[in-house]
Amino acid sequence: MDLQLDNKTILVTAASRGLGYATAKVLADEGANVIICGRTEDSLKSAKTTIGGSTEYVVADVSRKDHIVSLIAKIQSISPALDGLFVNAGGPPPGTFSTISDEDWRHTFNLTLMSAVWLTRESLPLLRKSDSPSVLYSTSISVKQPIDNLLLSNSMRPAVIGMMRTLADEIGPECIRANAVCPGYIYTERVEELMAHSSDGEVSPKEKIESTIPLGRMGNPVEFGRVCAFLLSPAASYVHGALLLIDGGLYKGMM
Ligand SMILES: NC(=O)c1ccc[n+]([C@@H]2O[C@H](COP(=O)([O-])OP(=O)(O)OC[C@H]3O[C@@H](n4cnc5c(N)ncnc54)[C@H](OP(=O)(O)O)[C@@H]3O)[C@@H](O)[C@H]2O)c1
Repeated sequence: MDLQLDNKTILVTAASRGLGYATAKVLADEGANVIICGRTEDSLKSAKTTIGGSTEYVVADVSRKDHIVSLIAKIQSISPALDGLFVNAGGPPPGTFSTISDEDWRHTFNLTLMSAVWLTRESLPLLRKSDSPSVLYSTSISVKQPIDNLLLSNSMRPAVIGMMRTLADEIGPECIRANAVCPGYIYTERVEELMAHSSDGEVSPKEKIESTIPLGRMGNPVEFGRVCAFLLSPAASYVHGALLLIDGGLYKGMM
Protein backbone atom coordinates (compact mmCIF):
# COMPACT_ATOMS: atom_id res chain seq x y z
CA MET A 1 0.00 0.00 0.00
CA ASP A 2 1.24 3.50 -0.84
CA LEU A 3 0.75 5.79 2.16
CA GLN A 4 0.91 8.79 -0.22
CA LEU A 5 3.20 10.63 2.17
CA ASP A 6 5.68 11.86 -0.45
CA ASN A 7 6.43 15.55 0.14
CA LYS A 8 3.75 15.87 2.82
CA THR A 9 4.83 18.22 5.62
CA ILE A 10 4.24 16.79 9.08
CA LEU A 11 5.03 18.20 12.52
CA VAL A 12 5.94 15.60 15.13
CA THR A 13 6.34 17.07 18.61
CA ALA A 14 8.54 15.71 21.42
CA ALA A 15 10.50 13.69 18.90
CA SER A 16 14.21 13.65 19.73
CA ARG A 17 13.75 10.09 21.07
CA GLY A 18 11.11 7.51 21.95
CA LEU A 19 7.65 7.38 20.40
CA GLY A 20 7.88 10.76 18.66
CA TYR A 21 11.25 9.92 17.16
CA ALA A 22 10.05 6.52 15.89
CA THR A 23 6.99 8.11 14.28
CA ALA A 24 9.09 10.84 12.66
CA LYS A 25 11.52 8.23 11.32
CA VAL A 26 8.78 6.11 9.72
CA LEU A 27 7.18 9.23 8.19
CA ALA A 28 10.53 10.39 6.77
CA ASP A 29 11.26 6.90 5.41
CA GLU A 30 7.88 7.13 3.64
CA GLY A 31 8.92 10.38 1.94
CA ALA A 32 7.39 13.01 4.23
CA ASN A 33 9.11 16.28 5.14
CA VAL A 34 9.23 16.04 8.88
CA ILE A 35 9.63 18.80 11.44
CA ILE A 36 10.50 17.63 14.93
CA CYS A 37 10.67 19.48 18.22
CA GLY A 38 11.97 18.93 21.73
CA ARG A 39 13.62 20.97 24.48
CA THR A 40 17.26 20.02 23.86
CA GLU A 41 19.07 21.21 20.76
CA ASP A 42 21.86 18.58 20.87
CA SER A 43 19.39 15.65 20.93
CA LEU A 44 17.35 17.24 18.14
CA LYS A 45 20.47 17.70 16.01
CA SER A 46 21.42 14.06 16.33
CA ALA A 47 17.80 12.95 15.74
CA LYS A 48 17.70 15.05 12.56
CA THR A 49 20.81 13.23 11.32
CA THR A 50 19.54 9.73 12.05
CA ILE A 51 16.00 10.41 10.79
CA GLY A 52 17.49 11.70 7.53
CA GLY A 53 15.48 12.91 4.54
CA SER A 54 14.54 16.57 4.68
CA THR A 55 13.97 16.65 8.44
CA GLU A 56 14.07 20.01 10.20
CA TYR A 57 14.01 20.70 13.91
CA VAL A 58 12.83 23.52 16.15
CA VAL A 59 13.69 23.79 19.85
CA ALA A 60 10.39 24.12 21.69
CA ASP A 61 8.91 23.15 25.03
CA VAL A 62 5.31 22.15 24.30
CA SER A 63 4.21 22.88 27.87
CA ARG A 64 4.69 26.58 26.99
CA LYS A 65 2.22 28.46 24.81
CA ASP A 66 4.82 31.05 23.70
CA HIS A 67 7.08 28.24 22.43
CA ILE A 68 4.21 26.70 20.48
CA VAL A 69 3.27 30.02 18.91
CA SER A 70 6.84 30.56 17.70
CA LEU A 71 7.19 26.91 16.62
CA ILE A 72 4.20 27.21 14.29
CA ALA A 73 5.37 30.64 13.08
CA LYS A 74 8.70 29.03 12.09
CA ILE A 75 6.88 26.27 10.23
CA GLN A 76 4.80 28.87 8.42
CA SER A 77 8.00 30.56 7.28
CA ILE A 78 9.28 27.36 5.64
CA SER A 79 6.09 25.66 4.45
CA PRO A 80 2.85 27.02 2.94
CA ALA A 81 0.79 24.21 4.51
CA LEU A 82 0.86 21.53 7.17
CA ASP A 83 -0.44 18.10 6.12
CA GLY A 84 -0.11 16.40 9.48
CA LEU A 85 0.25 17.14 13.16
CA PHE A 86 1.37 14.46 15.61
CA VAL A 87 0.67 15.73 19.12
CA ASN A 88 3.06 14.25 21.66
CA ALA A 89 4.78 15.48 24.85
CA GLY A 90 6.95 14.23 27.66
CA GLY A 91 5.27 12.03 30.25
CA PRO A 92 3.80 13.44 33.47
CA PRO A 93 5.64 12.59 36.69
CA PRO A 94 4.63 9.35 38.43
CA GLY A 95 2.88 9.44 41.80
CA THR A 96 -0.27 8.75 43.76
CA PHE A 97 -3.00 11.06 45.06
CA SER A 98 -1.11 11.56 48.32
CA THR A 99 2.24 12.36 46.70
CA ILE A 100 1.30 14.62 43.77
CA SER A 101 1.64 18.34 44.54
CA ASP A 102 -0.49 21.23 43.23
CA GLU A 103 2.52 22.28 41.15
CA ASP A 104 2.66 18.78 39.53
CA TRP A 105 -1.07 19.08 38.70
CA ARG A 106 -0.57 22.54 37.18
CA HIS A 107 2.48 21.51 35.18
CA THR A 108 0.77 18.38 33.81
CA PHE A 109 -2.30 20.40 32.85
CA ASN A 110 -0.05 22.48 30.56
CA LEU A 111 2.17 19.59 29.43
CA THR A 112 -0.55 17.07 28.61
CA LEU A 113 -3.80 18.93 27.92
CA MET A 114 -2.96 22.53 27.05
CA SER A 115 -0.09 21.50 24.75
CA ALA A 116 -2.70 19.60 22.70
CA VAL A 117 -5.05 22.62 22.73
CA TRP A 118 -2.32 25.13 21.77
CA LEU A 119 -0.76 22.93 19.09
CA THR A 120 -4.14 22.29 17.51
CA ARG A 121 -5.28 25.91 17.62
CA GLU A 122 -2.04 27.31 16.19
CA SER A 123 -1.79 24.62 13.49
CA LEU A 124 -5.36 24.77 12.18
CA PRO A 125 -4.76 27.69 9.76
CA LEU A 126 -1.87 25.77 8.16
CA LEU A 127 -3.76 22.47 8.19
CA ARG A 128 -6.62 24.17 6.32
CA LYS A 129 -4.20 24.82 3.46
CA SER A 130 -3.51 21.10 2.96
CA ASP A 131 -5.52 18.82 0.68
CA SER A 132 -5.27 15.92 3.17
CA PRO A 133 -4.91 17.33 6.69
CA SER A 134 -4.77 15.07 9.70
CA VAL A 135 -4.15 15.41 13.44
CA LEU A 136 -3.13 12.49 15.62
CA TYR A 137 -3.00 12.73 19.43
CA SER A 138 -0.68 10.34 21.20
CA THR A 139 -2.19 9.52 24.60
CA SER A 140 -1.97 6.28 26.62
CA ILE A 141 -3.80 3.11 27.56
CA SER A 142 -4.50 5.11 30.76
CA VAL A 143 -7.52 6.62 28.96
CA LYS A 144 -9.11 3.14 28.99
CA GLN A 145 -7.89 1.85 32.37
CA PRO A 146 -5.83 3.54 35.11
CA ILE A 147 -2.16 2.66 35.47
CA ASP A 148 -0.77 2.21 39.01
CA ASN A 149 1.25 5.17 40.29
CA LEU A 150 0.39 7.36 37.24
CA LEU A 151 -2.44 9.44 38.71
CA LEU A 152 -1.63 12.45 36.49
CA SER A 153 -1.68 10.46 33.25
CA ASN A 154 -4.89 8.71 34.35
CA SER A 155 -6.52 12.09 35.08
CA MET A 156 -5.31 14.37 32.27
CA ARG A 157 -5.17 12.12 29.21
CA PRO A 158 -8.91 11.35 29.11
CA ALA A 159 -9.43 15.12 28.69
CA VAL A 160 -7.37 15.00 25.49
CA ILE A 161 -9.67 12.26 24.18
CA GLY A 162 -12.73 14.35 25.08
CA MET A 163 -11.26 17.23 23.15
CA MET A 164 -10.35 15.07 20.15
CA ARG A 165 -13.82 13.50 19.94
CA THR A 166 -15.51 16.91 20.13
CA LEU A 167 -13.08 18.51 17.71
CA ALA A 168 -13.66 15.67 15.25
CA ASP A 169 -17.29 16.81 14.90
CA GLU A 170 -16.22 20.43 14.55
CA ILE A 171 -13.47 20.04 11.94
CA GLY A 172 -14.76 16.95 10.14
CA PRO A 173 -16.90 19.11 7.80
CA GLU A 174 -13.66 20.85 6.75
CA CYS A 175 -12.21 17.40 5.92
CA ILE A 176 -9.59 17.68 8.66
CA ARG A 177 -9.25 14.29 10.33
CA ALA A 178 -8.54 13.86 14.04
CA ASN A 179 -7.70 10.59 15.78
CA ALA A 180 -5.87 9.31 18.84
CA VAL A 181 -3.54 6.43 19.63
CA CYS A 182 -3.19 4.83 23.04
CA PRO A 183 0.11 3.05 23.58
CA GLY A 184 0.34 0.33 26.24
CA TYR A 185 4.00 -0.48 26.94
CA ILE A 186 6.37 0.50 24.14
CA TYR A 187 9.99 0.03 25.18
CA THR A 188 11.51 3.55 25.41
CA GLU A 189 13.66 5.48 27.88
CA ARG A 190 10.49 6.72 29.59
CA VAL A 191 9.38 3.13 30.26
CA GLU A 192 12.88 2.22 31.45
CA GLU A 193 12.82 5.16 33.87
CA LEU A 194 9.37 4.23 35.21
CA MET A 195 10.48 0.62 35.71
CA ALA A 196 13.60 1.77 37.57
CA HIS A 197 11.27 3.30 40.21
CA SER A 198 9.26 0.11 40.65
CA SER A 199 11.88 -2.59 41.24
CA ASP A 200 10.86 -5.15 43.89
CA GLY A 201 10.82 -8.92 44.46
CA GLU A 202 12.45 -11.66 42.38
CA VAL A 203 10.74 -10.93 39.07
CA SER A 204 12.09 -7.89 37.18
CA PRO A 205 9.59 -5.08 36.55
CA LYS A 206 9.89 -5.76 32.80
CA GLU A 207 9.06 -9.47 33.18
CA LYS A 208 6.19 -8.60 35.50
CA ILE A 209 4.69 -6.21 32.93
CA GLU A 210 5.29 -8.55 30.00
CA SER A 211 3.50 -11.38 31.81
CA THR A 212 0.31 -9.26 31.61
CA ILE A 213 0.56 -8.60 27.85
CA PRO A 214 -1.08 -11.27 25.67
CA LEU A 215 1.63 -10.88 23.00
CA GLY A 216 4.16 -11.55 25.78
CA ARG A 217 6.40 -8.54 25.18
CA MET A 218 6.55 -4.78 25.12
CA GLY A 219 6.19 -3.07 21.76
CA ASN A 220 9.08 -1.75 19.73
CA PRO A 221 8.86 2.02 18.97
CA VAL A 222 8.87 1.32 15.23
CA GLU A 223 5.73 -0.83 15.62
CA PHE A 224 4.08 2.20 17.17
CA GLY A 225 5.48 4.58 14.53
CA ARG A 226 4.11 2.52 11.64
CA VAL A 227 0.54 2.67 12.96
CA CYS A 228 0.84 6.44 13.52
CA ALA A 229 2.26 7.02 10.04
CA PHE A 230 -0.72 5.17 8.56
CA LEU A 231 -3.27 7.15 10.59
CA LEU A 232 -1.64 10.45 9.61
CA SER A 233 -1.47 9.49 5.95
CA PRO A 234 -4.04 10.00 3.16
CA ALA A 235 -4.29 6.18 3.07
CA ALA A 236 -6.38 6.44 6.28
CA SER A 237 -8.76 8.94 4.65
CA TYR A 238 -11.95 7.50 6.23
CA VAL A 239 -10.58 7.04 9.77
CA HIS A 240 -11.85 9.97 11.84
CA GLY A 241 -12.62 10.44 15.53
CA ALA A 242 -11.10 7.05 16.31
CA LEU A 243 -9.17 5.82 19.31
CA LEU A 244 -6.71 3.03 18.60
CA LEU A 245 -4.90 0.96 21.20
CA ILE A 246 -1.34 -0.10 20.36
CA ASP A 247 -0.77 -2.40 23.32
CA GLY A 248 -0.22 -6.03 22.31
CA GLY A 249 -3.67 -6.90 23.70
CA LEU A 250 -3.00 -5.50 27.20
CA TYR A 251 -6.39 -3.75 27.50
CA LYS A 252 -8.96 -6.41 28.34
CA GLY A 253 -12.18 -4.42 27.96
CA MET A 254 -14.62 -5.29 25.16
CA MET A 255 -15.18 -1.66 24.06
N1 LIG B 1 6.50 4.47 25.87
C1 LIG B 1 5.31 4.04 26.26
O1 LIG B 1 5.07 2.84 26.40
C2 LIG B 1 4.21 5.01 26.57
C3 LIG B 1 2.95 4.50 26.91
C4 LIG B 1 1.90 5.40 27.16
C5 LIG B 1 2.13 6.76 27.07
N2 LIG B 1 3.38 7.21 26.75
C6 LIG B 1 3.56 8.66 26.69
O2 LIG B 1 4.04 9.02 25.41
C7 LIG B 1 4.89 10.17 25.52
C8 LIG B 1 6.23 9.86 24.90
O3 LIG B 1 6.78 8.76 25.61
P1 LIG B 1 8.22 8.18 25.28
O4 LIG B 1 8.21 6.81 25.83
O5 LIG B 1 8.56 8.40 23.87
O6 LIG B 1 9.13 9.13 26.22
P2 LIG B 1 10.70 9.42 26.16
O7 LIG B 1 11.44 8.25 25.66
O8 LIG B 1 11.01 9.96 27.52
O9 LIG B 1 10.81 10.62 25.07
C9 LIG B 1 10.24 11.85 25.36
C10 LIG B 1 10.55 12.84 24.23
O10 LIG B 1 9.79 14.00 24.47
C11 LIG B 1 10.64 15.16 24.54
N3 LIG B 1 10.03 16.06 25.51
C12 LIG B 1 9.83 15.85 26.82
N4 LIG B 1 9.19 16.89 27.36
C13 LIG B 1 8.98 17.79 26.36
C14 LIG B 1 8.39 19.08 26.30
N5 LIG B 1 7.87 19.66 27.40
N6 LIG B 1 8.36 19.74 25.11
C15 LIG B 1 8.89 19.18 24.01
N7 LIG B 1 9.47 17.95 24.00
C16 LIG B 1 9.52 17.27 25.18
C17 LIG B 1 11.99 14.59 24.97
O11 LIG B 1 13.08 15.43 24.58
P3 LIG B 1 13.64 16.59 25.58
O12 LIG B 1 13.68 15.96 26.95
O13 LIG B 1 14.97 16.96 25.04
O14 LIG B 1 12.64 17.69 25.50
C18 LIG B 1 12.01 13.29 24.17
O15 LIG B 1 12.35 13.54 22.84
C19 LIG B 1 4.94 10.49 27.01
O16 LIG B 1 3.96 11.45 27.32
C20 LIG B 1 4.59 9.17 27.66
O17 LIG B 1 4.06 9.33 28.96
C21 LIG B 1 4.41 6.38 26.49
